[in-house]
Amino acid sequence: MAVKEPVVNDADGVLAAAPSAATFEVTSPATFEAVRQADQDHVMSTYARYPLALVRGRGTRVWDSEGRAYLDFIGGIAVNVLGHCHPAVTAAITKQARTLIHASNLFYTLPYVELAGLLAKTGVPGPVFFCNSGAEATEGAIKLARKFAGATGRKGRRIVAVEGGFHGRTMGALAATGKPQFWQGFEPLPPGFVHVPFNDVGALEKAFSPGATGSETGDRAAADPADAPCAVILEVIQGEAGVRPTSPEFLAAARELCDRQGALLIIDEVQTGLGRTGTFWAFQGAAGAGAAGAGAAGLRPDVMTAAKGLGGGLPIGFFSARDEVAAVLRPGDHGSTFGANPVACAAAVVTVSEILKPGFLDHVREMGAELNGRLADMAAAFPGAARAARGKGLMAALEMASADLAQAVLDGCRAGGVLVNRTAGNVIRLLPPLTVTQREVRRATAALRGAVAEAARPAGVACPPNAPSGRAGSFLFETSSMSI
Ligand SMILES: Cc1ncc(COP(=O)(O)O)c(C=O)c1O
Repeated sequence: MAVKEPVVNDADGVLAAAPSAATFEVTSPATFEAVRQADQDHVMSTYARYPLALVRGRGTRVWDSEGRAYLDFIGGIAVNVLGHCHPAVTAAITKQARTLIHASNLFYTLPYVELAGLLAKTGVPGPVFFCNSGAEATEGAIKLARKFAGATGRKGRRIVAVEGGFHGRTMGALAATGKPQFWQGFEPLPPGFVHVPFNDVGALEKAFSPGATGSETGDRAAADPADAPCAVILEVIQGEAGVRPTSPEFLAAARELCDRQGALLIIDEVQTGLGRTGTFWAFQGAAGAGAAGAGAAGLRPDVMTAAKGLGGGLPIGFFSARDEVAAVLRPGDHGSTFGANPVACAAAVVTVSEILKPGFLDHVREMGAELNGRLADMAAAFPGAARAARGKGLMAALEMASADLAQAVLDGCRAGGVLVNRTAGNVIRLLPPLTVTQREVRRATAALRGAVAEAARPAGVACPPNAPSGRAGSFLFETSSMSI
């Protein structure tokens, strides 16, 4: 099926200068209904998908199989940090695909070595291990923490995690995940994990006390007095839980307890990393994290994980650790067939290089201020429908009063040509490409505001006198007339 090239006439679009194909081909099945049916017939139904099939993307824009254009404020769930099909990423992938696609880790190859050197400049704690996803990075970090505990003569193997935290869908990562909805039904999970309530410093301290059990979830291991924590794993801002910032006090306590007890602080940067919050890694911007681990460079992790945005859209992740910690892994201890894949690493080299360019993170902070300011205005304007606005950089959220309202807002945004995500039930999450323009932020938030007004109306919740009409249709018209 040939789909007509939609109009892109944004002078300020980051990819405005990119070459544009006159038409592009979509392989069969051709219509959305056919795509949906093929999915239903042959694919496991683990995802609740939006009722549209995306066929093309450029910058902040994507197009569906019917030729409709959208502003993508989901960004592949924090993956498309440079937008869709950034020309430098596409060129690097194409070049590497012509050169060497895969070789295995039996050999040295060039892209992963270059990438590791670049990552060292971003403030990672030490050497890296390349894998393919966030969950795999979590697994590696857990294994490393356990191995380090053994190597340094600690009896304890327990890992302290945080309620609401999300670390991936593999069994170890699920055990660390503090949201039962993700692991219930898949038990038994690996033992040795304990969860403390979000931002509860007292509970964290208690988890380090001899014989502590914390709020053990599922049928996990019973308390063993000798089973002291060997690590704490946390997100600086919990993403899946609805963009919830971990408090500076909690971060400081985690750092201090780990230092005092010889445990490792593992920071999960899978969602927050790669410039998303305005610093290259979110821990670098975790100001006020306390004297023990803070300073000009923010909070200091012993181990960190990353994935999502690293490959500019290709699957790649890593975990990194301080030299002394990383040194306990010897040849044969850990591995991954596709880890350090040359094509993924070539894409990541370009992605990391772009983020490291002077001014890139300033742009993220500026656009973040614009986005978060507009969300705060919305929360104030619709107090009955929107509970709060939260965010840092381009990781932002509008918490709605209910899941139904959030779904109505999501649907209204889509009708108005803007894609947003719903997480934690009632939270609208915005994770646009970091290259998003001010105009795009304004258009997207205008559509979002209209959708909130529309969603608020039937529920009879407070609506200011100067609120937009609230008709999604009128917003659709307005948005498309702006040629997104
Ligand atoms: C903080 C965090 N950690 C880990 C993961 C798991 O990453 P992946 O889906 O690549 O396995 C995610 C995914 O959303 C995440 O947000």
